[in-house]
Amino acid sequence: NKRSRVVVNFMRERLPKSILDTLCQLGEAASRLDCNAYVVGGFVRDLFLYRSNEDIDIVIEGNGIEFARTFARESGARIHTHEKFGTAVIIFPDGFKIDVASARMEYYQFPASLPVVEMSSIKMDMFRRDFTINTLAIQLNPGNFGRLIDFFSSQKDIKDKVLRVLHNMSFVEDPTRVFRALRFEQRFGFTIGKLTSSLIDNAVKMNFFKRLAGKRVYAELKLILKEENPAPTILRLLDYDLLRVIHPDLIIETDFKTLLDTAKKVTDWHDLLFIDETYERWAVHFMTLIRHCGLKATREICTHLTIAPRYAKMFGENRLSTEKQLSLLERRKRMTHADVYNLLKGFKTEMILYMMVCTTSRMAKKRISHYHTQLRNVTITISGKDLLKMDIKPGPIYSKILQAVLEAKLNGVLRTREDEFNFARERVARIRTKQPEISVDRKTG
Ligand code: CTP
Repeated sequence: NKRSRVVVNFMRERLPKSILDTLCQLGEAASRLDCNAYVVGGFVRDLFLYRSNEDIDIVIEGNGIEFARTFARESGARIHTHEKFGTAVIIFPDGFKIDVASARMEYYQFPASLPVVEMSSIKMDMFRRDFTINTLAIQLNPGNFGRLIDFFSSQKDIKDKVLRVLHNMSFVEDPTRVFRALRFEQRFGFTIGKLTSSLIDNAVKMNFFKRLAGKRVYAELKLILKEENPAPTILRLLDYDLLRVIHPDLIIETDFKTLLDTAKKVTDWHDLLFIDETYERWAVHFMTLIRHCGLKATREICTHLTIAPRYAKMFGENRLSTEKQLSLLERRKRMTHADVYNLLKGFKTEMILYMMVCTTSRMAKKRISHYHTQLRNVTITISGKDLLKMDIKPGPIYSKILQAVLEAKLNGVLRTREDEFNFARERVARIRTKQPEISVDRKTG
């Protein structure tokens, strides 16, 4: 009908052709298997919000696993299945993934307090979701391609920019939805509906979170920290006194907001300069969040959230070991480039950025950024082989000479390969005659 055509045109305008083609193929496959297929949830929400989203979630009215298996076979993809939940993931050879779920009555369990009503299975599938804005579905079968299904006034809420739960038991069913609400509120610039807001207040008051496993809190927290700008959501968690769910004595000081904003600025600065460099941006924000926690509290947080040892070490020992470096960078008036290099070498990008977030000293910030943009990339061309050719007997002296060459280069004393050779020769001669060192370091601010 006319409405479907409007939606199809809209999809043509908004979606990459490859995605649109895939959606058509999914619909055709569903019709061949005599079942209905819908693309649902965040993908459709983002289509109407003009935001790109390539996470395709398909709901099949019927057996989703059988559908996924057939579709994968026909298109040369593999699948992973979850028989218990009737779900599957289709994985294409290029790594692209599609989630498939089955809308079937046997998969739904509702709290006894909710009235049992007659519902089609797609409606039931939408009804168990978190917020109205996530309950849109677009049918994909050829005859009905583009039929928009909106049982719960989702379009109106998207237009009004408001976040609402579908029923009063939503946060009882799943308290992590409180975190999701605040994350979506900030990401989309929506407001939380009045009733939904009072349900959140109630969830906090009744502490629904105490039965929530630390692992799930961590997963939600990570999703928040991976947002483009995590700071506003974190501040909303603080508003609702929800940071205590991470740890009862998470230490929040007056610089909290400034720190979070600085973390955004510092990571943005880095990402602009080093587009191709991968590091864990969210980890910088996590460390900022626990900035004032000591080793004991950090360890408790890591245990509670079941954080993997690698990260627990980064957030605990490694993070706290930067204090010493920071205080030197902040206090020592005269430091050569080589001094700065020697202080910071070995620290990963996450830790370098964390240090930049923590310091309020302009001098220290300048030193760290100089290290990260220039010094860490300085290399020398002279090697052990060259020293061998100079008839120097191999031994610990090699690393001493090479280190001295590197330091001189960091300090701007050496420019060419020739300079490096001359410098090394001079060093060797001096060591051989045991002359005292002549300082060649250029002092910097
Ligand atoms: N969902 C839910 N309750 C949760 C988590 C998810 O009801 N605690 C539902 C949501 O309605 C959502 C769907 O499951 O549409 C998929 O969730 P998710 O993968 O988190 O996708 P998005 O809503 O798209 O979130 P994001 O944009 O952050 O990926």
